[in-house]
Parts: sequence; structure tokens; C-alpha cells
Amino acid sequence: MHPATIKDLLKGKELLQEITINGWVRTFRSNRFIALNDGSTINTIQCVVDFEQFSEDLLKQINTGAALQITGTLVESQGRGQSVEIQVSKIHVHGTADPETYPIQPKKHSLEFLREKAHLRIRTNTFAAVMRVRSALSFAIHQYFRDNGFQYFHAPIITGSDAEGAGEIFKVTTLDSKNPPLTEEGEVDYKEDFFGKETNLTVSGQLEAEAYAMALGKVYTFGPTFRAENSNTSRHLAEFWMIEPEMAFFDLNDNMDLAEDFIKKVISYALEHCSDDLEFLEKRLIDEEKSKPQIERSAMPLLEKLKFVTENNFKRVSYTEAIDILKNSKPNKKKKFTYPIEEWGTDLQSEHERYLVEKHFNCPVILFDYPAKIKAFYMRLNEDGKTVRAMDILFPGIGEIVGGSQREERLDVLKEKMAALDIDEKELWWYLDLRKFGTAEHSGFGLGFERLVLFATGMGNIRDVIPFPRTPQNAEF
Ligand code: 4AD
Ligand code: MG
Repeated sequence: MHPATIKDLLKGKELLQEITINGWVRTFRSNRFIALNDGSTINTIQCVVDFEQFSEDLLKQINTGAALQITGTLVESQGRGQSVEIQVSKIHVHGTADPETYPIQPKKHSLEFLREKAHLRIRTNTFAAVMRVRSALSFAIHQYFRDNGFQYFHAPIITGSDAEGAGEIFKVTTLDSKNPPLTEEGEVDYKEDFFGKETNLTVSGQLEAEAYAMALGKVYTFGPTFRAENSNTSRHLAEFWMIEPEMAFFDLNDNMDLAEDFIKKVISYALEHCSDDLEFLEKRLIDEEKSKPQIERSAMPLLEKLKFVTENNFKRVSYTEAIDILKNSKPNKKKKFTYPIEEWGTDLQSEHERYLVEKHFNCPVILFDYPAKIKAFYMRLNEDGKTVRAMDILFPGIGEIVGGSQREERLDVLKEKMAALDIDEKELWWYLDLRKFGTAEHSGFGLGFERLVLFATGMGNIRDVIPFPRTPQNAEF
């Protein structure tokens, strides 16, 4: 049988049996106690070595980071802090780690330092915990949709459409950048390019998901998404993962209900299945916050905050109500906002979103019915002719975590909106077809996966919750 995992061994079922285990040395104390970790759990197993049984040569190779195979007997632990330990009879060194050059030593490393060692940082407790929670959350997401009658749909990564119209796209081309073919007008001739047209990496799988929802009913995508926004914030990545459900016959209220239930269920899953990791991350956060000024500390410990979200209703507020609250807020009156709120119709900045969530309501908030002017062309126009059936979910400490809407299903209204924004009907002929043949009310949303992982782990920077982050000036590894 393949060697056991440490997670299984720590349950203590193999007591007094001979077992074999593989892992990496975290610490080796007094030439006697090896703390071994194999990634299956945050916990290490203590391996007790009788140093007289082993050569000095071998013991010298047991340094932090070395990979070992250990055989021995699982016994009840004499020491404190663990229930079982291994009385070691055999040690095989798979590979050593030179203490002079191995960067991950048993001491506190800064997250910035570890970002430069993204290939090794997963060997720290913090990153291993974050990545196990990330893995569990992605499983929970698939399970949620499966349990609720959704089909998993794979949106294309290379597309010819810029769904959000925001234009922050990465081009995909095989043309020679030094010597591209030119048209008679002297422009780059994309007819000569690989796809015979301009293409880019997807910024959202939504438009394609709409086509699938209009046949399969309820679908979702969960895949990589690319945005060439040059924003160096702790909330933005150039490559991130987005979950996008799209549902036929759902209006905006159904959409909000689904989004809220979905977020609550996947966070509950993490609470139930990742308790060791979350407890560790909670302690890490409490330590980290000790060095911060009082006002920047979070009011609730991590686990309490996660439970709070799963147990309380999100507050639903229209954009118009939100603007009234913001207009009359203290920071607005005292001119503390960088972007003061003066009139209806302005876009909300993250300072406003955070005020609403963290100061005014103190819970997750769903804002809906935004001005048409500040939202994408595909959102359904309300009877008032100036707002659209959009919704954003705002989270404490994160800001926007979900963006979604009921889609414009009326061909004539959609065409009018596209014309007003100068969007060429020919580019989106197939999207218009969906409104010509069997059109129906439908809705969907996009959840930024890394923002969910940020929230669930209490980490402060989005670069620390994705394995190999891609941000401006940074695509190492
Ligand atoms: O609000 P967004 O732009 O919505 C859409 O793309 C819609 N087409 C989704 C839909 O209705 N199917 O993006 C959705 C979410 C945001 O709320 C945010 O959580 C995340 O994606 N997001 C990012 N996450 C990390 N880095 C970035 N640069 C992000 N841009 C958006
Ligand atoms: Mg958005």
C-alpha cells in the first residue's frame, strides 16, 4: 500500500503498528525530534529518533526542508502538543536542503519576501493553509452547482468579443510584431492573423454562458479570466478565476437569492471541512493585527466573521438609497472622501462601498438598480428608463466580490442600447440571435474567486491567495 498521510496517521488508528510516511522536515530539535509535514494537514507529526541508532552522517542531512521517508511504530505521545508520534526505526533521505541556501527557515518571513519565492512559499504553514482552503472552496463550488441542477460549461479562453466593453484586454496574435501585414490604409491587417480577425483573452465568459443557459437552463463557468487593468491594488489580478452562473427564467431577485445562498453554502463548507487551517489563519491574523493601529483591526476574529456571514441576511439596498446614505454621511459632509458624492448617477468608488459595508450596515450588502450609464450594455433596462437591473455584492474588507444582472432579453431595447454605445451589431450577431429565437428572461453573476478566498482566509493581499500571481510587471514562474 502507498504510505499513509500525516492527516490520517494523526487520527491514531494505526497505534502500535509499523508505518511508513513521506514528508518534509519542518524542524529537527536536539538531534531527536523531527517535525515532519506532508501537506495533507497543517499539523506535523513528531518523529522520535534514537540518535545512537543512526550515523552522524545521516543525522547531518536532516535539515529544515529535507524530504524524508520514515518508517517506525506509531505510539502514544509522551510529550505535550500531540497525541501520537513515531518511534523511528528507518530513515531514507529523498533529498537534502542546504541550510545556507534554503530560503524557508523556521522563522517568520514577510509575505513580500515569500512572494518572490512563490515556488517554495507553499512550504510555510500560512500558504499551505490558504491553498488547502482554496482547493476546498473550489470543490464546494462545483458541488453546490451540481446539487442545484446546474450544468458545468467551459467558456472559450480566446474570444473575439470584449464582454464588459471596458477594453482592458490582452490581445492574442501570431503576427510578427516587428513587421505586421498592413492594409491599404496602413493599419495592421488582422485578416492575415491566425484567426483572421482581432482576438483577445476572455474578460468574462458571460455572453457565451447566456447562449448555453438558453438551452441547458442553468449553467456555470469556473475558469481563468484576464484583464489588462494597470491597477496595482491588493484586490486586482491580471489573471484571476471567475465563477459565472447564468440562469434562464431567473429575474434579478432570483439572481440575488441564488448569489447569497451560494456564498453562504460555500463558506459553510470551508468552516466545516477546513477547521484546522482556518483556526491557524485566525491566530495568524490576530498576531498580525497586534502590530496595527486599533482602528485598522477587524472587529471580529476570522471564524466568527465567517459564521456571521453564513447566518445573517445580506442587506439589499438600491443604488438610489445608497447615494442618499452616502450624501448624508459624515465623511461626505466633512469632505473626507477623495471622490465626494454630489449627485445621483456617479459611479461608486471603493471608499464609498467600504463605508456602506463597514461603517453603515456592518454586514454584506447587495446594491441593485444602478444607473444605466455606469453599467454594461447587456443589463436589463428598468421601466424608469434610466436604471438597469444590475446588482453588486459588497463584502467587508474586500469591497465588490460579485457583479451581476438580469440581462436585456428584448431585441429592440438591446439594439438601441448597443447603438447608443457604438457597439457594432455585426460583432455580436450571434448574441442578438439569442433575442430573436426563443428569448426569455434570464440572469447571472460573476464571483471573483480570489476575492472569496481572500475573505475566507483573512489574507490582506490578493497576490497571496493565488498560486502564481500575474500582476503588472510580474509574471515570474
Ligand atoms: O463585475 P465584473 O466585471 O462582472 C463581469 O465580468 C460580469 N460579466 C459577470 C457576470 O455577470 N457573469 O466581475 C465580476 C467579479 C467582480 O465582482 C470581482 O469579484 C472579480 O470578478 N474581478 C476581479 N478579481 C480579481 N482581479 C480583477 N482584476 C478582477 N476584476 C473583476
Ligand atoms: Mg463589477
